[in-house]
Amino acid sequence: MEDEEGHKYLASYMIDAWRARGGHAAVPAKVRRESFCDSPEIIFTHGERQFSFFFGKTPFNDPQADTLISDKWLLFQTLGDQIPLPYTEFVAKDDPRDDAALVQAILQKAEDPHSPLAFPLVVKPSEGSLSRNVFIAHEAHELARAIRANRDDPDNGPGILLQRYLGDEEGLFREIRGICLDGRTMIAYERTTTQPIPDNVLTDPAHWPGVVRREVTDPAIIEQIDSIADRLHEDYGVCYVAFDMKCDRDGKMWVLEGNVAPLGLDEIERQMPNGGALIHAMAEKMLDKVMAHAPQLQYHQDYDSQGAAGPPEPDFS
Ligand SMILES: Nc1ncnc2c1ncn2[C@@H]1O[C@H](COP(=O)(O)OP(=O)(O)OP(=O)(O)O)[C@@H](O)[C@H]1O
Ligand SMILES: [Mg+2]
Repeated sequence: MEDEEGHKYLASYMIDAWRARGGHAAVPAKVRRESFCDSPEIIFTHGERQFSFFFGKTPFNDPQADTLISDKWLLFQTLGDQIPLPYTEFVAKDDPRDDAALVQAILQKAEDPHSPLAFPLVVKPSEGSLSRNVFIAHEAHELARAIRANRDDPDNGPGILLQRYLGDEEGLFREIRGICLDGRTMIAYERTTTQPIPDNVLTDPAHWPGVVRREVTDPAIIEQIDSIADRLHEDYGVCYVAFDMKCDRDGKMWVLEGNVAPLGLDEIERQMPNGGALIHAMAEKMLDKVMAHAPQLQYHQDYDSQGAAGPPEPDFS
């Protein structure tokens, strides 16, 4: 998700939205900018309560919701039969078996026609990010390498996931991300490239050569993302989440994982003609949510009467 150009984060878009809404006149907030930090922070205050936006992080999700989304194994265990997640198994990094024995046990399963695990297999850390140590293993040797690399990494969770590969002979399925707020898809896009993808970055779409984001508006796709987001919102308190997804050849959407503080909004703005407008609409909706937590603030009135006065300068501290 890194890129060479200047970054802009959700927090910055929230500051824009807040200023456009009338700044302090609409809702009290404090803006922090530190020279050593790439993202500003905006903290809305309602009496004792504070709502902070920093990098891609919002104050909206229940704490358990953040854990559920960040722990890919917990997500599969909790929701494996409720939302479309690829079949997944877990092995502990500190499993007492040595690599050879562990690989042998997995091989046996992968070769058993009754087991849902089969080659090619995706091997990845149970709580990873930035595509670190995500491998597609086609045979024993690659499996052993992927297991070793994950065991050598003390971070990114205590486990290694073995997951069904979402692709076929023609290659990986379409790579789609759905950014959702309160059970609704706010932004959906596909990452594509016309250039060949080298094997070593197959599982790292941020580094595909020539990768671009294109908006996805297909109602059949949006409906599926909405329905997944709605389930997580209603039953698990997940308000803001970006799903990394795959769309198979039949048009079925699969959830690979979720991110509760996604980055890359600036790339969306740069690459999608409609991107700026979509992000703006999402920030507006987030600001509405912040203000809805403060019943003493009659923001519609304030906005109408004072919004035109121009945004005040933010506090620097
Ligand atoms: N089961 C799978 N089948 C096919 N491709 C997969 C699978 N799991 C992961 N990938 C590929 O690897 C990428 C990274 O995997 P995933 O999103 O699970 O890990 P991550 O480390 O959280 O990545 P990031 O932070 O870059 O989104 C996916 O976007 C996808 O391209
Ligand atoms: Mg991902």
